[in-house]
Amino acid sequence: MISRRAQLVSFPRIIDPRGSLSFIEAGRPVPFNIQRAYWIYDVPGGEVRGGHAYRTLTECFVALSGSFDVQLDDGIERRTVSLNRSYLGLVVPNKIWRRLDNFSTNAVCLILASANYDADDYIRDYADFLAEARGDP
Ligand code: TYD
Repeated sequence: MISRRAQLVSFPRIIDPRGSLSFIEAGRPVPFNIQRAYWIYDVPGGEVRGGHAYRTLTECFVALSGSFDVQLDDGIERRTVSLNRSYLGLVVPNKIWRRLDNFSTNAVCLILASANYDADDYIRDYADFLAEARGDP
């Protein structure tokens, strides 16, 4: 358990002299129905992604290549998780403020999401986030 609500999951690993293979199937080990995938790449040195929360969306972050840090804030406590293994996923539920930074050169961040893109699901103001997060224990 990374924080009270976020968790790391391990994907199966098929290790082979030709290279390693990992996979995700419906319902396992990512504990939600994956409706969307997107990825972040070509991040210039020092840039930051995220900086918001979602009202309902759950996501899973995977460092497919390279490394980056995910800062999590549930309104009560803050944790930073460094991701640098392509067989680990960081599952982050709704109402957690997230900020991605410290991207290595050539980092690729895959994000699996529980719903299609919806701009209205974003909480982009930190004060609004604290009010919503603390009002929903
Ligand atoms: P945003 O979620 O703000 O990026 P970050 O990962 O840094 O939080 O998205 C950046 C832009 O991309 C914004 O204009 C919305 C658009 N976008 C989509 O159209 N579809 C998507 O699935 C996502 C994640 C973003």
